[in-house]
Amino acid sequence: MVGMSVTNDRMQVAVIGVGRMGRNHVKALGRLPQAELVAVVDAQAERAAEVAGEVGCRWYDDVERLLDAEKNLCAATVAVPTVGHYELAMRLLDRKIPCLVEKPLATTSAQARQLAERADAQGVALQVGHTERFNPAVQAVLGMGMVPRFLEVHRVSPLTFRSLDVSVVMDMMIHDLDIVLKLVGSPLGEVQATGVAVIGEKEDVAHARLVFASGCVANLTASRLALKTERKIRIFSESAYVSLDYQKRDGLVIRKSDNAEALAKARQELMAGTDMSNLDYSELVRVEHLLMDDTPSKQDPLTAELADFLKAVQSGGRPHVDGWAGYAAVEAAERVMQSIRGHRWEGLTELTI
Ligand SMILES: NC(=O)c1ccc[n+]([C@@H]2O[C@H](COP(=O)([O-])OP(=O)(O)OC[C@H]3O[C@@H](n4cnc5c(N)ncnc54)[C@H](O)[C@@H]3O)[C@@H](O)[C@H]2O)c1
Repeated sequence: MVGMSVTNDRMQVAVIGVGRMGRNHVKALGRLPQAELVAVVDAQAERAAEVAGEVGCRWYDDVERLLDAEKNLCAATVAVPTVGHYELAMRLLDRKIPCLVEKPLATTSAQARQLAERADAQGVALQVGHTERFNPAVQAVLGMGMVPRFLEVHRVSPLTFRSLDVSVVMDMMIHDLDIVLKLVGSPLGEVQATGVAVIGEKEDVAHARLVFASGCVANLTASRLALKTERKIRIFSESAYVSLDYQKRDGLVIRKSDNAEALAKARQELMAGTDMSNLDYSELVRVEHLLMDDTPSKQDPLTAELADFLKAVQSGGRPHVDGWAGYAAVEAAERVMQSIRGHRWEGLTELTI
C-alpha cells in the first residue's frame, strides 16, 4: 500500500457528514497534533457552516466541491448515514483519498467487499469506524492472546429513537460481531438467530448463536429497548476467564494457573466428603484487574481510532480495522439477519398480555 505524500507535518483532513458522529470526529481530530482539519462537508449547508464556524475551517455542501477545491487533502472521514457510505467512499477511493468510514462499512456485504477491493486496488488506506476495537479494555484482551472456547455478549440500552431504519443487528450488534470475529480468529460456520421488531419493521431485539470452524461458540444479545444500559463481553478459554465492561472500560481476569492449587485443594476436600456449602467461591479464586494502557489517547477510543487511521495514511501501512474487517462484520450481520428472518415459528399463538 502506498502512502499519501504529506507536504507538511500536519495532514490535511476533512470530515464528511457533521451530524452526531461527524461532530465527534471533528472534536477528536482537534486533539491530534498530526491532523489539520481543513474542511467539513454536509448536505445541510447551514450545519456545515455552523460546525466550520465553530472550529475555523472551510465548509462545503457537496463532496465533489471539496475534492475540486482542496488539492492537498490527505484523508477524509465519512460519517453520513450508512446508506451513503458506499457512494461517498468509492468517490474518495477513486481519487486515491484514504478514508475512515463509520460503521457499518456499507448496507450490504456485496458493497462492503467492493469497497475493500477498491481500496486494495488503489493502494489506499480504508479504515472502518469500529470504535469499540480501540476501547483500552478490548485492546488489553486482544493483547492477551486468548483462544476463546465460548463467549457471551450483551449490548442493551434504552431507546434513543435513532437509527430505527436499520436492524439492531446492523446498528448495535455489529460492534460485537467485529470484536468476536477478531478474538476468535476462525471462519464463521453455523449461525442461528432470532429477533423481535417492536417499534418498526426492523428488529429491535436480537439474539444470535455463532459457531466457528474452531468449535468456539459465541452468544450475542443486542437490544435497543432495554430499561438500562449494559455492554459486556465474557470470554472463556482453556487458560482464563475474562469479564469485560465496555462502558466502564474495565475488566476482570481469572487465570486457571493462579487458582490451580486452591481448586485442587477444594477438589480433595470434596472427595474426602467435607461439607463445603458454606464456602464463598468468589473468595476462593484469585481475581485480577485487567491491565490497560491508560495514556489519554488510549482512554478515548475515537481519538485512538483516528490516530491509527492517520498513522496508516502517513506510513502507507494498513489500518488495524481495514476494509476487509468491515466487510467481515457486515457479512456476519447479514447472516444473523437472514437467520432471524428465516426463523420458523410454529404452534405459537400468544394471547394479548
Ligand atoms: N462508531 C460508532 O460508535 C457510531 C456511533 C453512532 C453512529 N455511527 C455511525 O455514524 C454514521 C452517522 O450517524 P449519525 O448518528 O451521526 O447520523 P446523523 O444523521 O446525526 O448525521 C449524518 C449527517 O450526514 C449528512 N449527510 C447525509 N448525506 C450526506 C452526503 N451525501 N454528503 C454530505 N453530508 C451528508 C446529514 O445531513 C447529517 O448531518 C452512521 O453510519 C452510524 O452508523 C457510529
